[in-house]
Amino acid sequence: MGSSLDLPRKPFALRHLPTAARMVVATYLISVGIGYFSALVQLHFQHASAGQFLPGPDEVKSAYGSRPNMGQLERLVLADETRPFNGSGQMREAFFRRASGWRREIRELAKDKKVSEEEAEKMIRKQRVAEPDALVAWIRSGAAKDTYKESTEAKSYKFLLPDEVAAHLTDDAPSDFFKKNEDGKWTANIAEIIDTRCVHCHKTGARGAVGAIQLDEWEKVMDYIAPEGGSGMSLDKLAQSTHVHLLGFAMLYGLTGFIFAFTSYPAAIRAVIAPLPLVMQVLEISCWWLARADATFALGIMAFGGLVALGLGAQIVLSLFDLFDKKGKVMIALLLIAGAASVGVLYTQVIAPHLEQQKTSAARLSS
Ligand code: HEC
Repeated sequence: MGSSLDLPRKPFALRHLPTAARMVVATYLISVGIGYFSALVQLHFQHASAGQFLPGPDEVKSAYGSRPNMGQLERLVLADETRPFNGSGQMREAFFRRASGWRREIRELAKDKKVSEEEAEKMIRKQRVAEPDALVAWIRSGAAKDTYKESTEAKSYKFLLPDEVAAHLTDDAPSDFFKKNEDGKWTANIAEIIDTRCVHCHKTGARGAVGAIQLDEWEKVMDYIAPEGGSGMSLDKLAQSTHVHLLGFAMLYGLTGFIFAFTSYPAAIRAVIAPLPLVMQVLEISCWWLARADATFALGIMAFGGLVALGLGAQIVLSLFDLFDKKGKVMIALLLIAGAASVGVLYTQVIAPHLEQQKTSAARLSS
């Protein structure tokens, strides 16, 4: 019939969208890119150890994998001080750098003994180790209530320290937490240790997540003593994280995938890259659960997580280029170069020196 209806229709493509719509798509892609980068920064603060930008295999293993069969409190008190200061990292710093008066004590001892502050810090640490060690020894002895708290007039405290913990203590370093009995044995006041080192944060009425974790009575301390069942993240946290990722991020990756699917790249490339982040995310999350059974799956978390990032990055960059004609492409290229340059500057000027500083202070701790 020769009507225009019989003409082959041009397949829909992004670049045929009106300018305003393409601007929306472009700014959406850019903001997803920035959002993803800030998610990486958050990952740094949550899980990376001192000196790392992103968590390594050890950190991922301990976040998702099996853990030594001990209670949360014991684990947090024994964990390395370079780990992040939170419920999945460590609370050991509460005895040292986060103890109130820490800096002042070091300065005063350095002045007293006429040694460097570094030397003074080492001296204080050597004795203070008795505090976390006493706490752990008490937990391992069964954490009995009648060995926890002490009446004020007692000549000795109730928890008798094992010899290897007592070995840190000397007569010339008075402490509110330890007493030497007439028979030469040392005893500890466990309640006083926790009250001094932990309760100024973990008390009834403190605001936020910390306030929900109370350690001001034996009964409440007991909540954190029971063995965790050998797995990293608690089941309810993992279940929550799973649904947040599968619903929230699936929406996000679904949209970026759809956008990429309508670009003008060859069909085979589109068919691979468009669903890539979604598929990789499902594999990554499967590894979260599998890592509970076998910690080697933590490596799968890192590999599939990396592929999610790679796929998303490819979708954003390639789609942005496909949206515009020559002039627009130049603009996008300039924008990407400017973005890469500012990340580069940020890295060399702020992040790298910060990581370097973390590394040197971590090295000082372990020497
Ligand atoms: C400077 C404040 C501060 C001090 C001191 C402190 N904590 Fe914490 N603690 C925190 C914060 C912050 C968290 C993470 C809370 C969160 O986000 O869930 C935490 C988490 C915990 C958790 C994890 C609870 C959970 O359900 O995830 C335990 C157990 C804990 N602390 C024990 C201790 C012990 C034992 C001490 C003393 C040796 C101590 N804390 C000292 C701030 C502190």
